[in-house]
Amino acid sequence: MDSFKELFGLITDIVAHTVVHKYLRSLVLRTFGPENLRENLLPEIEQITRKYFQLWSKQPSIELKEGISTMIFELTAKKMISYDEVKSGHKLRENFVNFTEGLISFPLNIPGTIYYKCLQGRKKAMKLLKDMLTKRRAKASFEKGHGDFMDHVIEELKKEENIFTQGFALDLLFVLLFASFETSSSILTVAFKILADYPLVVEELTVISEMVRLVNIVPRLFRRTINDVEINGYTIPAGWAVMICLPSVHLNPAKYEDPLVFNPWRWEQPGMDSSARSKNYIPFGGGPRFCTEADFANLQMAVFLHCLVTKYRWMIVKGGDIVRRPGLIFPYGIHIQLTEKEGNETCKGVH
Ligand code: HEM
Ligand SMILES: *[C@@H]1O[C@H](CO)[C@@H](O)[C@H](O)[C@H]1NC(C)=O
Repeated sequence: MDSFKELFGLITDIVAHTVVHKYLRSLVLRTFGPENLRENLLPEIEQITRKYFQLWSKQPSIELKEGISTMIFELTAKKMISYDEVKSGHKLRENFVNFTEGLISFPLNIPGTIYYKCLQGRKKAMKLLKDMLTKRRAKASFEKGHGDFMDHVIEELKKEENIFTQGFALDLLFVLLFASFETSSSILTVAFKILADYPLVVEELTVISEMVRLVNIVPRLFRRTINDVEINGYTIPAGWAVMICLPSVHLNPAKYEDPLVFNPWRWEQPGMDSSARSKNYIPFGGGPRFCTEADFANLQMAVFLHCLVTKYRWMIVKGGDIVRRPGLIFPYGIHIQLTEKEGNETCKGVH
């Protein structure tokens, strides 16, 4: 729309040309395309998500849109322009928030209107981007790259016959930074509302503890007493071997109602705890020898199950017997047929 020229600058005209549009897409995809996503972004997305969940879990409450936007902006601003809001002392994200508020509003540019607020937001963000780009370009010849999107932009600006100018580069950086955090952060915020209405779905997504409880992949743990140990009126003398039987904890009917039943919803009940400090859920052991790979394993399973249920159907076609002696044995194997769900495009675009 014509009115967007004021808000997004030169870019609105230029991307109308097919050739330029293609060239720009390929430039953006160097950072956000599948290859870089797989090699660099995926681990970072995961890392930052975990960091923020950790942070949020220590707070009495968090506001979702604000929190998720901050999280996503931290990552995208780093990947695009190596920007760190805390270190820089600027308020680039708030500039974008102000910009977004008046994005679709009556275009009356006088103090007090949200349109004014929007244009001010753009002006301040553009000034900061310009300062950063100018500084980086001045140093570019004797400084090694930052490994961000701006590196590619500076590289393109060096080419003389190019249509790519500094003003245009700034518009591009602006629009990408804007698109990168307003979109997904809103969806994820709404997701919490929707999921609140569908607790069954959430539970379906967190079956992992219930499977781990039932499977008892480590059936026994061993210790040797160093001193005499008093327990429930018995004394275990020093030097004795002690065998800890994990299934007797996980299948204890006093702790788990109908313990042999696979019931992921049991974890919804008050008092149920599958964390590392729980005394009734010890598949990864406990105390100083608590499995060092517990988080990794849970993550591995979560990612695996997530991929499985979102992208595939499956059917057991052969075998399936499970025997315990005392480790798990699958005498005839478990053979499945896996089929990709239809209409399931994997991420191909810039998203
Ligand atoms: C869940 C989040 C997102 C949704 C729902 C979404 C949605 C869309 C839609 C519908 C379009 C097409 C616009 C049109 O046809 O006019 C689009 C294009 C685009 N999006 Fe997103 N987007 C999301 C996230 C992102 C992110 C994270 C970025 C970048 C960092 C981004 C950058 C872009 C760009 C550059 C285009 C233009 C592509 C082109 O014109 O070739 N988007 N997005
Ligand atoms: C955002 O807009 C508000 C209200 O117009 C203003 O007080 C605030 O300073 C703006 N934020 C930034 C970072 O400029």
